[in-house]
Amino acid sequence: MKNKQQQQQLTSNPLSFQMYLHSLIYCMLLVSGLVIGITLTFYMKEIPFNFQLKQFSMQPPPTSQPPPSAPPPPSLPQLQNFKSSNIPIYLKNNTRIGLTEYLKPPNTMHDMEDEELLWRASMVPRKRNFPFQRVPKVAFLFLTRGHLPLAPLWEKFFKGHEGFYSIYVHSQQSFNGTVPEDSVFHGRSIPSKHVEWGMFNMIEAERRLLANALLDFSNQRFVLLSESCIPLFNFTAIYTYLINSTKTFVEAYDLWGPVGRGRYSHRMKPTIMPDDWRKGSQWFEMDRDLAIEVISEHKYFRLFRRFCKPSCYSDEHYLPTLVSLRFWRKNSNRTLTRVDWSKGGPHPAMFGETNVTIELLNMMRNGTNCLYNGKSTNNCFLFARKFLPSALDRLLSFAPMVFNFN
Ligand SMILES: *[C@@H]1O[C@H](CO)[C@@H](O)[C@H](O)[C@H]1NC(C)=O
Ligand SMILES: *[C@@H]1O[C@H](CO)[C@@H](O)[C@H](O)[C@H]1NC(C)=O
Ligand SMILES: *[C@@H]1O[C@H](CO)[C@@H](O)[C@H](O)[C@H]1NC(C)=O
Ligand SMILES: *[C@@H]1O[C@H](CO)[C@@H](O)[C@H](O)[C@H]1NC(C)=O
Ligand SMILES: *[C@@H]1O[C@H](CO)[C@@H](O)[C@H](O)[C@H]1NC(C)=O
Ligand SMILES: *[C@@H]1O[C@H](CO)[C@@H](O)[C@H](O)[C@H]1NC(C)=O
Ligand SMILES: *[C@@H]1O[C@H](CO)[C@@H](O)[C@H](O)[C@H]1NC(C)=O
Repeated sequence: MKNKQQQQQLTSNPLSFQMYLHSLIYCMLLVSGLVIGITLTFYMKEIPFNFQLKQFSMQPPPTSQPPPSAPPPPSLPQLQNFKSSNIPIYLKNNTRIGLTEYLKPPNTMHDMEDEELLWRASMVPRKRNFPFQRVPKVAFLFLTRGHLPLAPLWEKFFKGHEGFYSIYVHSQQSFNGTVPEDSVFHGRSIPSKHVEWGMFNMIEAERRLLANALLDFSNQRFVLLSESCIPLFNFTAIYTYLINSTKTFVEAYDLWGPVGRGRYSHRMKPTIMPDDWRKGSQWFEMDRDLAIEVISEHKYFRLFRRFCKPSCYSDEHYLPTLVSLRFWRKNSNRTLTRVDWSKGGPHPAMFGETNVTIELLNMMRNGTNCLYNGKSTNNCFLFARKFLPSALDRLLSFAPMVFNFN
């Protein structure tokens, strides 16, 4: 048996040696073929080859020396930041940091894109109880074309109530006016884009304002106002009314005819049916929960962007329809911003210098009748519009008395 095996090995050995030689030659042929092929390919594409070399080779390409000022490859210096001794646990004066860094809202003039901003603003804590002292604030969102001509009135309104409000201003992107440093509006402008009144980009601007205000965890209620709006009560009265309210104030009503249901597009079916279509003023008031829903939802937002085209006016229908469909339980369906349609026409009445009287302001403060936290009240409006810049002087002289400003 043993002999037979040895014989087999002996006879098979010359054969495997031959095969080995064959494959060696084959391999060498293959390698040289590859080398020739690659060289030819690089020769044909000389420029990209040089470029690649410069990009990825650690050695200088033979043809051109790198400029002496070439930046060194990124390495250790960045890593050194992670040394544990650099992690600040306490501030220098021994104050705990805790959540302070996390809770600090970013600068109003940040560089976040809309997509980034909305994403960050949509974060919601699952825990309802705050592990820190928190004074709820009312966020005043001003959607304006340019500067705020009635700013001096608002200055008086806010004076002495720091810590209970925050202000955000979205003006036209092109607006380059400056705000005095001692103004409550100083540094409160948010990164703005071009807005056409009545067009869909107004909804985007409203969401931008809401999202910016949401980044401050203290903001609890959110009021959207225009540059022609005025307050009808003092700060304390308005603050208490809003913070205590169990309802949101997004105006919503069902209107038949061309300027109501006539603006509905059947292409919004079945998400929005004709019976779901609502109209209302774009000047809203809402709480934090609703604000987060508004900036996060995309189903209705996309439908409006596609199908609410000119002479539809998204700003008058998007929020009323969305809120009435999904959040109607908590909505009062009424607006807090009084406006006078009695003169007729497509635009509300404008109040200039001669129109502002004590009687007018008192009349505006005394709404007809409405519900507030389930009870009947005459205090139905906290704000009013549309006031022209010329109305400022008389407003300033009447406001302290009529509105109980201090
Ligand atoms: C400690 O320093 C921080 C920031 O420098 C400051 O905000 C805080 O008020 C200081 N605390 C005390 C007790 O001084
Ligand atoms: C501000 O904008 C106006 C027109 O929109 C322009 O004429 C003016 O030069 C701008 N001013 C500055 C400081 O950019
Ligand atoms: C309304 O809010 C104030 C303080 O913000 C509070 O003192 C008061 O009890 C509240 N009233 C109601 C009816 O909730
Ligand atoms: C608001 O409107 C919705 C939808 O039309 C309705 O269901 C709700 O009862 C209204 N709420 C109030 C307080 O009137
Ligand atoms: C404002 O006053 C002018 C002139 O006095 C008048 O023509 C106009 O109708 C008034 N507007 C309102 C809204 O009352
Ligand atoms: C407010 O209006 C109602 C009627 O709508 C009236 O009874 C009441 O006296 C008015 N109040 C004031 C302070 O004008
Ligand atoms: C604010 O107005 C209310 C009535 O609306 C009044 O009772 C209160 O005293 C005013 N507050 C101040 C600080 O003037």
